[in-house]
Amino acid sequence: MLASIALFGDGAGMTYPGGKGRCYKRIISLMPPHRTYIETHLGHGAVLRHKKPAHESFGYDLDPTVIAWWGDRTPRGCTIQVGDGIAHLKERRFTGEELVYCDPPYLAATRRSRSRIYRHDYSEAEHVAALTVLRNLPCPVILSGYASDLYTDLLPGWQRIDVPGWSQAGAVVESLWVNYTPSDHLHDYQHIGATFREREQIRRRRSRVLSRIQALPTPERLAMLEELAAADTSVFLAVASRLHDAGRSADTPLLNRDAR
Ligand SMILES: C[S@@+](CC[C@H](N)C(=O)[O-])C[C@H]1O[C@@H](n2cnc3c(N)ncnc32)[C@H](O)[C@@H]1O
Repeated sequence: MLASIALFGDGAGMTYPGGKGRCYKRIISLMPPHRTYIETHLGHGAVLRHKKPAHESFGYDLDPTVIAWWGDRTPRGCTIQVGDGIAHLKERRFTGEELVYCDPPYLAATRRSRSRIYRHDYSEAEHVAALTVLRNLPCPVILSGYASDLYTDLLPGWQRIDVPGWSQAGAVVESLWVNYTPSDHLHDYQHIGATFREREQIRRRRSRVLSRIQALPTPERLAMLEELAAADTSVFLAVASRLHDAGRSADTPLLNRDAR
């Protein structure tokens, strides 16, 4: 019997059972650049809703009531469908420019409560089948869950990142597994920092430096940008290409309108 498929409101706090409303920032800050984003077990998609959009995005959930929740919340450029996310991965022809984020129902052995949470839950055999598909994907993959021997055995060579936090049941440590080495080049820099404290420090520092640069007279600001570009060409080329991709060159934050 379905004990509690409580669908909470979409407020700033908890939204959906197992939802990533509390740790999406950490997940987004691990994402390498990608053109196509695929979220296989969407729920209320805290990660999809907060990340910078990809060129195209796909979200799947087996539960039609969950997909109905998206209604007019579906972000532009996203295809949201009822379906088995793992089956979609098996059918897809990958180019390597995708990023897959997978947040399946938690493994029963790692749950505090034995009651069923979702209309579509996962048996151990389904976890094994899903991880077997993920292991063979030719693109970066991020997987969420709680640490277990099964996951350790099935994901040799994957890096595990533990994210301490709080759930309704108290202190918890959620884990993320990645099949790549996280680097400094990210899809989205808005939430960088490993902890709340670190994110706040970075946010304040960025805002301080930015306002000092913006306050400079235009020639001085451009001279500084040129010096930075010359000192770190690859970073500047990456930034220019991101702005171009996003069609946002008109909003370049370090250049004022009069400097263009
Ligand atoms: C942990 S929740 C996802 C929570 C989500 N990350 C969020 O932030 O709201 C797992 C979801 O997987 C869905 N699900 C179960 N089996 C599935 C399958 N084979 N394919 C796609 N979704 C599935 C469940 O309906 C549930 O919504």
